[in-house]
Amino acid sequence: EPSEREIVHHVNRRLPEATVALLRELGRTGERLGMAVYGVGGFVRDLLLDIDNQDVDITVEGDGILFAETFARQHGCRVRSHQAFGTAVLVLPTGGKLDIASTRLEFYESPGVLPTVERSSLRRDLHRRDFTINTLALCLNPDRFGRLIDHYGGQKDLREKMVRVLHNLSFVEDPTRCFRAVRFEQRLGFHLEPHTEGLLRTAVRMGLVERVGGKRLLGELTSILREREPLPAVRRMAALGLLPFIHAELRFGDDVEHLFAESERALAWYELLYLPTPVEAWAVYFLALTDRLDSPKYRETCTRLAMPGRWLQRLFGHRHRAIKHFQALRQGLRGGVSIANSRVYALLRNIPIELLLYGLARSGQEELRRLVSHYLVRLAHVTLLSTGADLHDIGVPPGPSFGRIKERLLAARLDGEVRSRDDELEFARRLLKDGV
Ligand code: CTP
Repeated sequence: EPSEREIVHHVNRRLPEATVALLRELGRTGERLGMAVYGVGGFVRDLLLDIDNQDVDITVEGDGILFAETFARQHGCRVRSHQAFGTAVLVLPTGGKLDIASTRLEFYESPGVLPTVERSSLRRDLHRRDFTINTLALCLNPDRFGRLIDHYGGQKDLREKMVRVLHNLSFVEDPTRCFRAVRFEQRLGFHLEPHTEGLLRTAVRMGLVERVGGKRLLGELTSILREREPLPAVRRMAALGLLPFIHAELRFGDDVEHLFAESERALAWYELLYLPTPVEAWAVYFLALTDRLDSPKYRETCTRLAMPGRWLQRLFGHRHRAIKHFQALRQGLRGGVSIANSRVYALLRNIPIELLLYGLARSGQEELRRLVSHYLVRLAHVTLLSTGADLHDIGVPPGPSFGRIKERLLAARLDGEVRSRDDELEFARRLLKDGV
């Protein structure tokens, strides 16, 4: 096991100077208030694994809110406190955020008596965590800076690459940990410790995951799909029987493997286009995962996951339409004649980029892929050369026909029928005469 000195050396080498300075300042504030201060959880885990993680979580033995407010006053931070939980968020002058939790437990011996604050409760606090690898604490007080607190064998499990629960009821207490176990295992290249895997399989067999609320389940699923490489975790979820909790008929097989690989390709391709529209990669993988579900079952899945209305409106709610439009394109291709740009544009515009990439991924047809790329690269950003004022000047009246004429002009421009501003205005005059 590394010594305190080795860890300090590692901290200095691994973390940006400003972060190290911040950690030391946190320790000093703790010292002045007579509280022990620790960096905890994923931050310490990743530090020891030499993985980049700027998400510093702090736990204070004592009153965390008093600690956060004192630190904020002395360092020009803003602070948001949650009295009920004894937690606070520090907003640093740099804009970064720090989560502060406290181990303080108050016991009211009898009504009217001042609460007794239990101080040395870090151990119990860490005991509530999911896996041993997440129970490590790094002491930040000046006289002990860099000392590792390892009550539950976290360092050993990091060395042996094991995801291990602290006690037999861990998955019962919080069944979302079934997903977390898979996520850490696959992200870190670890293994579920055999007894832990047994407990997880028991939790699955007992249907405990059924009880997890939609919002939390969606949170776990998106966390998994946001991993750099989500496929191995999805494969593992399937092997452990976790997929049916998302939808009873969700299956994993060669087709999903293939679609994930194609989604990855589509995402990589899109990235190289350097287009301004950002893409939520996890959403493309979500669509890949649920690809085999028909519309009613897909909707059931969204309901089970309590998919927020704004996501449905912006993205997931459009799956049916997108698939229909892709079918129309495929049919058009079957006709043998080439499809007009304006037709491609009309079918693909207003389809969110994630659904376009999904369409790209699921289409085995090279021609269709070519059309979608053509749309994204050449058509999606085409605008008119004439302005609204130009159209007004030649007598296009305000109202619905204004929009119709603009649409027709854009179609003509997409199809190469007009090539300059003058062409457009000429075309608009003709449309006016024809009473469009
Ligand atoms: N935790 C837990 N049970 C959960 C969720 C979280 O015990 N269902 C604990 C874990 O020990 C974790 C800590 O709360 O270390 C913080 O949670 P989170 O930020 O989700 O975990 P990280 O380990 O920081 O994960 P990531 O690297 O993905 O940010």
